[in-house]
Amino acid sequence: FTAELDTTDIEKGTYPHFMLKEIDEQPFVIRKIIQEYQNENDEIKLDPEIRQAMKDCDRIYIIAAGTSYHAGLLGKQFIEKLANIPVEVHVASEFSYNMPLLSEKPLFVYISQSGETADSRSVLVQTKELGHPALTVTNVPGSTLSREADYTMHLHAGPEIAVASTKAYTAQMAVLAILAVDTARAKGIELDFDPMQELAIVATAMEALTDQKEKLEDLASEYLSTTRNCFFIGRGIDYYVGLEGSLKLKEISYIQAEGFAGGELKHGTIALIEDGTPVIALATQENVNYSIRGNVQEVEARGANSMIISMEGLNKDGDAFVIPQVHDLMTPLVSVIPLQLVSYYAALHRDCDVDKPRNLAKSVTVE
Ligand code: G6P
Repeated sequence: FTAELDTTDIEKGTYPHFMLKEIDEQPFVIRKIIQEYQNENDEIKLDPEIRQAMKDCDRIYIIAAGTSYHAGLLGKQFIEKLANIPVEVHVASEFSYNMPLLSEKPLFVYISQSGETADSRSVLVQTKELGHPALTVTNVPGSTLSREADYTMHLHAGPEIAVASTKAYTAQMAVLAILAVDTARAKGIELDFDPMQELAIVATAMEALTDQKEKLEDLASEYLSTTRNCFFIGRGIDYYVGLEGSLKLKEISYIQAEGFAGGELKHGTIALIEDGTPVIALATQENVNYSIRGNVQEVEARGANSMIISMEGLNKDGDAFVIPQVHDLMTPLVSVIPLQLVSYYAALHRDCDVDKPRNLAKSVTVE
């Protein structure tokens, strides 16, 4: 049994593509998540069994594919930094035949928009056989991964139709942030971080960005309308967002795009920089602001056409795009929006089929 989505009732409305509609829906999805995960006393509303499983485990293994894997990399940041539990993040297709040594009390967290990805399911079957508890974080609660896991957390993102995932990614991060804070509180860890408040700030920031489409369309046309390749660089959290940015761009515009850690440039990638090569750099983290800008100078000196996306408070003259200020840990939910939009417009300018890119499927149900 596979949960099928009836798309006949889902309309694009005035939007030319589902992808653009889904990008614009992100502030509403974040507000819906705040509502769904909060009770009348403004406490986090969560299945007590999930809370217990999080408290009981000694290590979390996040298993996912594609964009959901990138959300997992950021989920690790939330859980380790806020709830103090070690987290490993694995690509499902690798984990299934190359299982690492497991801790004594692992908890498996499956992140999947569709809940149907065969590679993730194959890992779930194996870990269930070993007797390990499983939590699925999905947009489709009736899906296979949801039914076969012990617990489910719902993304509440509404149907996502475009093959390139956008609103599910930000929803996944929001839900993982809430889970991390709930676990921290359950463990008695004092936090100076109210996830609902921070998410409300994120929703407002997202709105401010989706209102700047023209600027992002101009950037796409200036940097990406004819290029053969494009690199994304960042450090720390920004590096993970760059991975997602490069996936978005390659999926829908067929530009060869890769994300790199800024510090790794000199170990290979810098050899690929030619006159006019676009390099998109993310600079939203104070602790690495200086060093990532140093990397930008290095690529510019080799002829790159660089575009810096920074955050208010850390921005400098000449930055191509500045996102509103949000909490350090929350920047991915906001900095990904200009990347999604730039990819969208790049694909449009290159006459690509935005919602249904060649060779890709929304839900990959074969291993
Ligand atoms: C496919 C989709 C991606 C998605 C990935 C994982 O490759 O095209 O957008 O990120 O599968 O899907 P899931 O439903 O498990 O999140």
